[in-house]
Amino acid sequence: MKATKFLKYLVITIFVLLIIIFSVVLYYIDYKMYDLKADQNLYSQNIWEINTDSLSEKILSMMTLEEKIDQMYGEKIYKSIPKFFGNFILKQKFPHIYAGRNKRLNIPPWVLSDGPRGARVLNKNISAVTTFPVAMARAASWDTSLEYKVHDVISKEMRANKTNYAATPCINLLRHPGWGRAQETYGEDPWLLGEFGIAAVKGIEKNNVMACPKHFALNSIENSRWVIDVSINERALREVYLPHFKKVIQKGKPASIMSAYNKVRGKYSGSNHELLTKILRNDWGFKGFVSTDWMYGIYDGIEAINAGLNVEMPWQDEYNYDIIKKGINDNHINLNQIDSLVLTTLKTRLKFAYSYDSIKYDENLILNTSHIDLARKVAEESMVLIKNEDVLPFKISENIKVGVIGDIANLENTGDMGSSNSSSPYVITPYQGIKNLFKNINSDVFLDDGNNLDETIKLAKKLDQIILVVGYTYKDEGEYVMSRGQMLKSAEAKELVGIKGIGGDRESLKLSKKDEKLIKALSKVNKNIVVVYVGGSAINMNNWIDDVPAVLFSWYSGMEGGNALASIIYGLVNPSGKLPFTIAKNDSDYPYFNPYTDKINYGYYHGYTLFEKFNKEISYPFGYGLSYSSFKIDNFRLSEENTDKNIIEFKVDIKNISKAYGKEVVQLYVGFEDSQIDRPLKLLRDFKKVSLNPGEEKTLLFKIEKNDLSYYNEIEKKWMIENVKYNFYVGNSSENNSLIKYKEGIDI
Ligand code: BGC
Repeated sequence: MKATKFLKYLVITIFVLLIIIFSVVLYYIDYKMYDLKADQNLYSQNIWEINTDSLSEKILSMMTLEEKIDQMYGEKIYKSIPKFFGNFILKQKFPHIYAGRNKRLNIPPWVLSDGPRGARVLNKNISAVTTFPVAMARAASWDTSLEYKVHDVISKEMRANKTNYAATPCINLLRHPGWGRAQETYGEDPWLLGEFGIAAVKGIEKNNVMACPKHFALNSIENSRWVIDVSINERALREVYLPHFKKVIQKGKPASIMSAYNKVRGKYSGSNHELLTKILRNDWGFKGFVSTDWMYGIYDGIEAINAGLNVEMPWQDEYNYDIIKKGINDNHINLNQIDSLVLTTLKTRLKFAYSYDSIKYDENLILNTSHIDLARKVAEESMVLIKNEDVLPFKISENIKVGVIGDIANLENTGDMGSSNSSSPYVITPYQGIKNLFKNINSDVFLDDGNNLDETIKLAKKLDQIILVVGYTYKDEGEYVMSRGQMLKSAEAKELVGIKGIGGDRESLKLSKKDEKLIKALSKVNKNIVVVYVGGSAINMNNWIDDVPAVLFSWYSGMEGGNALASIIYGLVNPSGKLPFTIAKNDSDYPYFNPYTDKINYGYYHGYTLFEKFNKEISYPFGYGLSYSSFKIDNFRLSEENTDKNIIEFKVDIKNISKAYGKEVVQLYVGFEDSQIDRPLKLLRDFKKVSLNPGEEKTLLFKIEKNDLSYYNEIEKKWMIENVKYNFYVGNSSENNSLIKYKEGIDI
C-alpha cells in the first residue's frame, strides 16, 4: 500500500516537473529580443561621436560588484540552458544569448553568432542565410580579397539577424589531416592562415560586428578537445603555432579572441596566464577581450581571472558572485583585476554599440543576389584540379549520356553540422548542377548511387562522361559532441570508450571501401571519368590514383557548389584553386595523431616543412593545383624602385601561354643558406593570384618584410635575424621543380 502511494506521488511529481520544464522551455524559446546598438534617444549628440573609452570608465565607476560580474559571462544559466537546448532541439535554431545587458546603466548587450560559412544565429522569422564553401575551400582559392568579401556578406547577414559578435575565423593550424574540424580553418601554413585571418577580421568588422578569431591556442584535435594537454617547445609555439594569431591580432585588430578548450603545457587555455596575459597582451599588445569557448572553457574562476580571461561563455558558472567575492576576501584576486577585465570588455564592445552604421541592416539584405553570386564565385575559385590526363574539360554536346554517380552525388552536403553549420535555403548538389547545365541541351544526365555495383558498371559502359562523386559528410568529420566523462575515459584508454558520436576526427584518411571500389571498377570500364572529392582536408589516394585520369577536389562547396562544379568540369570556368596543405604518400609520415589521447607533443615540423626536411615522399605538394591554361613564370628579379630598407622587393613576369583565359597563384618562398640553426628548407612568405587572357603577360610585385625572415631565439627569448644568405624562390607550387630560384643568396 505504502509503495503504491509512493509511486503515485512520484508519478504526479514527475508530471508536474515535466510541465514546469516544458513551460520554462517554451517561455525561453519565445525569448525577448534586444537592440544591440546604444539608444540614440538618450543622447543629444550623435552616438558615434561619443568617446566610448571615457564613457566606459564612467559606467564602471557607477557599477556595483554584482553589475561588474554581470559583464563577465554570457547569460544566467537558468535562462540560457532552456533557451539554448529548447531552440536547438525543437527548432534546430541557435538562439541569441544576450551578454552584458544592463538596464539601469543603459548598456546594450552583445550577441555571439558562429559563422565560419554563414551566419549561424537567426531571427525568429528568418530560416536561412547565404551559405559559403567551408574555410578550407576558401583558403584553396588563395584569394584574400574574396575572403574579405565573404566576411562582409556574413557579417551583414549577422547584423540583419540581430547579432554583433562573430565567433570566427578559426585560425588553428592544420597539423594533421585527420582533424575533424580541418574544414573550418585555412590549412597547414601559418602565413596563409595569417593572411586569410586578417581578411576575415577586416570583412567582419566593416559592418560593426566584433570579430573573434579562435581557438587560442593549439586546438588541432577534436575528439579529445576538452581534456588534451599539448606540450610544445618555445620555438615551435612562436614560429609555427602562434605567428598567425599574432599577425591577425596586430594587423587585423579584432575586438575579441576565443580561448581554446585544450590545455597548453598543463594549463587549460582559458586560465592560462602565459597565453592570455604574457603572450597575448604583453608581447602582442592585444587590446580586446577574451571569451571562453563554450561550456568547458574554464574550470577555476579564480585561476581564469588571474590569467586575464574577460568573459565566460555561454552561461555563468565559474564567474559568479560567491566565487569572486570569496576570491577577493581570501586575497587570491583583487578588485582592480575585476575592474580592469570589465573595463577592457566595456571599452571594446561599446565602441561597436556606439558605432556609425553606413547602411541599414534590414532582413531583406539576407540572401540577396549578390551574396548568392559570391557564394558561387568562391566555390568556383576554390576547386583544385589534382590530376587531368587530357580528360577535362568535358565537352557539352547534344545526344550524349552523362552519369553523375556516387551516394553523395545528389546529397545536400555543406559540411559539419556542429557550430559551423549554416542554414541554407537550398543546396545545389553535384547532380543538380550538371542537370542545370544541360537544361536546354538534348542529352541524358543519369543519377546513380552506386549501391548496386554490377548495375552501375553496366551503366558506366554506356556513358560518354562520368562524374563520380566520392568523399564525406558531417557524419564522417566535423565537430564532435560526447560527454566529457566519455572523452576522459577514451583519452586515458587511448581508444574510443563508449559509442562513437557523429563527426569528429577521421581515424582513417582513406575513402570508404565502397568509394574506392567504385573508383576502381568504373575507371576500368570507362576512361572518360573524373573523380570529384568532397571533404575538408587531405585524403589518401594511393589505392586508386593511378587508375583514374582526372581528380578534382571540390570540398564542401556551399549552397551553389553544384553549379560551380558543373562550370569547372565543363570548362566554363578554368580551375585555379591550390592545395592549402600537403598530401603525404604514406600516412605515417604526418605528425603523430591520435584522436583519443590526453597528452600530445606538437613538434617544430609539420606539413611541407616536415616532408622537405626529412625527405619524405609526398603525393601532392602544398600550393599545388592544375589549370586548363599554361603559364610561364620568368624574369625573377629584385625590384629597382624599392627605397624601404626594411623590405625586400621582387618582381616576376607571368604570361598565359595557352588559348584559355585563366588564373594562376604565384607563391614566394624563402630558404636559409648555411643556417646554424635547425630551420625549414623553405617557408612561404608571399603569394599573388593573377588572371590572364591568352597571350597576356603581367608583372607581379612581392614585398617581404625583413622581420618576417627572423627566427625565435629561445635563449634570448626574442625574435632574431640570422646572419646568413637568404634564398628566394617563386613558382606555382611549393614543389622544388616548379620553383625558380633567385640567382644569388641575399644578405639582409
Ligand atoms: C566550438 C566553438 C563555437 C562554440 C559556440 C564550441 O563548441 O568549439 O568553435 O564557437 O561552440 O557555438
